[in-house]
Amino acid sequence: MKGLIPQHFIDELLARVDIVEVVDRRVPLKKTGQNYTARCPFHDEKTPSFSVNPDKQFYYCFGCGAGGNAIGFLMEYERLEFPQAIDTLATVAGLEVPRERVENPEKASKRKDLHSLMAQAAEHYQQQLKHHQDSRRAKDYLIKRGLTGEIAKAFQVGFAPPGWDNLLQELGSDEQSRQLLIDAGMLISGDNKLYDRFRDRIMFPILDNRGQVVAFGGRVLGDDKPKYLNSPETEIFHKGRELYGLYQARKAVRNLERLIIVEGYMDVVALAQHGIPYAVATLGTATSEDHLRKVFRYCPEVVFCFDGDEAGRKAARRAMETVLPVMEDGRQARFLFMPDGEDPDTQIRAIGTSRFEQQILNAKPLEDYFFEAVSEGANADSLEGKARISKRAAPLIQLLPAGVYRELMMDALSRRTGLSASALHNILQNNPPADPPPPEPRATNAAPPPKNVAPAPLPSSKRDTLLYMISLLLLHPSAAPALQDESLPELDSPYLTTLKSILALLEKRPESSTAMMLGHWQGQAEGEVLTLALSLEKPNYDGEKAASALQECLQHLRQRQHQRELSSTVDKLRNANYADLSEGDKQKLKELLSRKASPD
Ligand code: GTP
Ligand code: MN
Repeated sequence: MKGLIPQHFIDELLARVDIVEVVDRRVPLKKTGQNYTARCPFHDEKTPSFSVNPDKQFYYCFGCGAGGNAIGFLMEYERLEFPQAIDTLATVAGLEVPRERVENPEKASKRKDLHSLMAQAAEHYQQQLKHHQDSRRAKDYLIKRGLTGEIAKAFQVGFAPPGWDNLLQELGSDEQSRQLLIDAGMLISGDNKLYDRFRDRIMFPILDNRGQVVAFGGRVLGDDKPKYLNSPETEIFHKGRELYGLYQARKAVRNLERLIIVEGYMDVVALAQHGIPYAVATLGTATSEDHLRKVFRYCPEVVFCFDGDEAGRKAARRAMETVLPVMEDGRQARFLFMPDGEDPDTQIRAIGTSRFEQQILNAKPLEDYFFEAVSEGANADSLEGKARISKRAAPLIQLLPAGVYRELMMDALSRRTGLSASALHNILQNNPPADPPPPEPRATNAAPPPKNVAPAPLPSSKRDTLLYMISLLLLHPSAAPALQDESLPELDSPYLTTLKSILALLEKRPESSTAMMLGHWQGQAEGEVLTLALSLEKPNYDGEKAASALQECLQHLRQRQHQRELSSTVDKLRNANYADLSEGDKQKLKELLSRKASPD
């Protein structure tokens, strides 16, 4: 395997090439003010919203939200993978691309050992399903559930027999392999004893992108609890990222048109058996944005499949809110509800493949489900009901990435409520989401967006303050010292990791430019956050102004954190006597009360 391209080379390359030239050769640019503009090559438009910033070396489209550095542009425009884009640019710049192995070799070999151990475990469980003296029960169970041997084999379904040490005996002959089994989550150590985590269960191996076994889900054969047991998080398994069945789906369907997200392992397997080999399941968690980004990497459409009960309806609502931020133009999401009491497994057996497929094709589009959800309990014919619907819908629509789809949803909301776009704008302004906006009023952008495109929303919620800080750092790396010695409040926000990563990078390499930062996390979650940060209005700051804005944002976050702590301690107090509080709580309360409460 080729080694990785060293970061310092990517930085050097970005410093050598000029994004204006790179873009101009493919999409002729026009100079307007300090920037260059063109009609966006990534979406259909009549007036140019695509601009290239020569100073900071990035491009951004106000119409569709596409953005990045020269490498990202090439990847998007010429549909290249990262290394090919680097090669192309390097050729132009007359540089040779060096390669290096960056993964620490010890860690890499540990991962390799873990992978091979999990493969052996999967093989072992499959053998036990065939040959163990107790395997009749397991086979009967699978037959009762309607699984064919063929599909069980395709999903590498196995059996962990009863007993405390089957796997331990099989794969744990020496100290080193026992330690590896523990690290893989396959053995549990308690009371100085080691024993198998999975006992007397049907085993479903969970595969990663490359088809390697990284974890297992194990189901009891009867009605015992817990029904399912999953592997714990390990060096090779992160539960919130994997989707059960994704590898098999990609293998079964060359050009995936859509993926269906169902709830259970059994649903995935049953659908595949009945000719719908493109279902995936989260591992018992709610669908996350990470999951959805992954799904949309492989196909343009996702169909959520939910049980028809109250829990299913709640899950659907949550999925709707999770999918909004990833609804780039060209993507579609749909919602399919099973009749009450059925899941996809039982449903497809009841109605057959073609009717089930028909239901998938007729599943409710996001737009329809969205308006149904926000209209719940409101009379859409009354003025008051319309106002309520708008208040619920407008902030959710703001979660959509800037683009045609968002504009269409705004239009649809106008149509349904009879309120004009400016009236909706007012509603939004008078009903900001939970948190107040960050302190700095934003000056206008160096390159104002074309008039027909709505400006990016002002940061107005907790995550937006963080996103705003990220955009300040991205455009003014020299302002980083304003935050570097400060401790950030531990907020529950997906942007916090990115902010921390940027600070760490700038500490290590203070000379990084905007383009270098955009390149540093190309294709990773951080990279997407950076592109998003480009969408914020960019005040005309210098480094110093940016530093003080960062400080103010930090103060703002701290005050909010402080208030949250205060109110949770007060809540506790309400239900307890001071004397009953723990020493820690008393101390905390004293501290909190001695600090000046913030005005907001
Ligand atoms: P069957 O009952 O065999 O049809 O399984 P199912 O896949 O239909 O299960 P269900 O709809 O009850 O649950 C959906 C998913 O939630 C499962 O596939 C598991 O990933 C997860 N899950 C269910 N029960 C448990 C449990 O007790 N513990 C854990 N960790 N996960 C569970
Ligand atoms: Mn089921």
